[in-house]
Amino acid sequence: MCGIVGYVGHRPALDVVLGGLRRMEYRGYDSAGVAVLDGAGALTVERKAGRLANLEARLDEVGRGHFGGTAGMGHTRWATHGAPVDRNSHPHRDASQRVAVVHNGIIENFAALRAELEADGVEMASDTDTETAAHLVARAYTEGDTKGDLTASVAAVCRRLEGAFTLVVTHADHPDTIVAARRSSPLVVGVGEGEHFVASDVAAFIEHTREAVELGQDQLVVITREGYEVLDFHGDAAQAKPFTVDWDLSAAEKGGHEYFMLKEIEEQPEALANTLRGHFESGRIILDEQRISDQDLRDVDKVFVVACGSAYHSGLVAKYAIEHWTRLPVEVELASEFRYRDPVLDRDTLVVAVSQSGETADTLEAVRHAREQKARVLAVCNTNGAQIPRESDAVLYTHAGPEIGVASTKAFLAQIAANYLVGLALAQARGTKYPDEVAREYAELEAMPAAVQKVLSTVEQVRDLGRRIADSKAILFLGRHVGFPVALEGALKLKELAYMHAEGFAAGELKHGPIALIEEGLPVVVVMPSPKGRAVLHSKLVSNISEIQARGARTIVIAEEGDETVRPFADELIEVPAVPTLLQPLVSTVPLQVLAAEIARARGYDVDKPRNLAKSVTVE
Ligand code: M6R
Repeated sequence: MCGIVGYVGHRPALDVVLGGLRRMEYRGYDSAGVAVLDGAGALTVERKAGRLANLEARLDEVGRGHFGGTAGMGHTRWATHGAPVDRNSHPHRDASQRVAVVHNGIIENFAALRAELEADGVEMASDTDTETAAHLVARAYTEGDTKGDLTASVAAVCRRLEGAFTLVVTHADHPDTIVAARRSSPLVVGVGEGEHFVASDVAAFIEHTREAVELGQDQLVVITREGYEVLDFHGDAAQAKPFTVDWDLSAAEKGGHEYFMLKEIEEQPEALANTLRGHFESGRIILDEQRISDQDLRDVDKVFVVACGSAYHSGLVAKYAIEHWTRLPVEVELASEFRYRDPVLDRDTLVVAVSQSGETADTLEAVRHAREQKARVLAVCNTNGAQIPRESDAVLYTHAGPEIGVASTKAFLAQIAANYLVGLALAQARGTKYPDEVAREYAELEAMPAAVQKVLSTVEQVRDLGRRIADSKAILFLGRHVGFPVALEGALKLKELAYMHAEGFAAGELKHGPIALIEEGLPVVVVMPSPKGRAVLHSKLVSNISEIQARGARTIVIAEEGDETVRPFADELIEVPAVPTLLQPLVSTVPLQVLAAEIARARGYDVDKPRNLAKSVTVE
């Protein structure tokens, strides 16, 4: 949930670190801080609650000249232990102020460690779990076998820590060295010419280098100007995986858009095309790192999709397609609930773990639980080499490119497409679809980027509507069949961006309770199915709209172009292109994303950084 960057090189560290933090801010924006080593034994730290802009203003106040030096680190925080105030902001230091630490994750045994330190006379300056690590490193560095050895001191402390963490540590005695370590929390190394980086995400250093190294579980890295060394927590040399980032700086910049989210909405056709590319060759669906054999796929007798938030909604959409194509039962479950209810799993269960970031703690724990029960796990992920794909039996990457806006948009559409590829791969392996049928479904998917592009060219009307209903108290969303998860996704977008009460309902449930919420003027968004695809669903939904219209709702209807039957019931009609029923979520979600973003803007909110949220949720 926090963003971390560390640097040792030949450039002014403060500039590099602040540049990295600007790109890391999507990971948390409760506070920010920097530490710079000046090479002459001084370790200068500044931290400030609130957005990175507050820290930058503070740096201007104290004078950036105090932060000379070519080694340093920075942090942008999503608060877990302790309120988002200056004293809880990272970096944290030990009592001698020689050691500084930034941290992402949760040190689960911090209470015991803190008590131990306090019993030793250490006075804590913050309410955080992180500060314990700073004191422990300082203590290890001044006594025992690890005395004077920063790397060994950090390794010794890591062996004592429980929970998930990425730690970056500096010591004033070592102005040309940064030590970083990870367990179940992301850490990548950037390899430059005469400079090295550590960060939560490659975006932090992409403007300087695309050469990166992905650290494994319980690994530690020492970076200097000249190189990097990877060790395990016992100090033995360890192997990490080098890779070249396949996107460039422009992908991590707004490119003239006011917000990343608006850019990412527009990138959806490309995200879909890139996700599908290369997955149908010689008449067959091909997945990426497929460490599940065809025989195993044939043996699958049940599918679970586990995920959180929008990724969970992508699973709800996919259930319709996978069950239809494979005749396998599909259960879609919130990852945070999955492992606590003892789901029935065995080696013939396929668990599809969907995660944009690949580091969502709830989903990761669900993956671990599934593997312990011997189920096969296939990850659908947007982040190369992240923890969830690393711990899965197979992975299918969504190539949506970096998604920086906290609200998922292009990743969501790409997840639907990828989930569908999983469904087709299962249908192909199990023979529930003939090869020509699989080819036809794939061709229909391939036509979707153009359909989404068409939706994008007509969204001005949605923006205008968003501005007109921005002061509503609440908005409801209704759908049936695949339109139901779209309604849930539309409501989630609105909650997280516009802080407005929003609920998605299965339209059939209306009269079982939610209809009591309808009052004069309440906007209700209805996601219509195609009149041609599922005529029965269409007519049922028309009845639902007339029921709510009769009770005074202001109906906003998303319907297929040319669907004249619905027009009389729509106070506002938003038309989307005609596509096959199972693919409708790919077009009908887009207006809902635009609507939420526009309402949030009209209410004066930061669309990329909604309050209380962070992009990657690395704590349970
Ligand atoms: O990185 P993940 O796909 O695992 O993230 C899951 C959710 O946290 C995420 O989709 C969240 O709900 C988004 N903010 C929704 O817009």
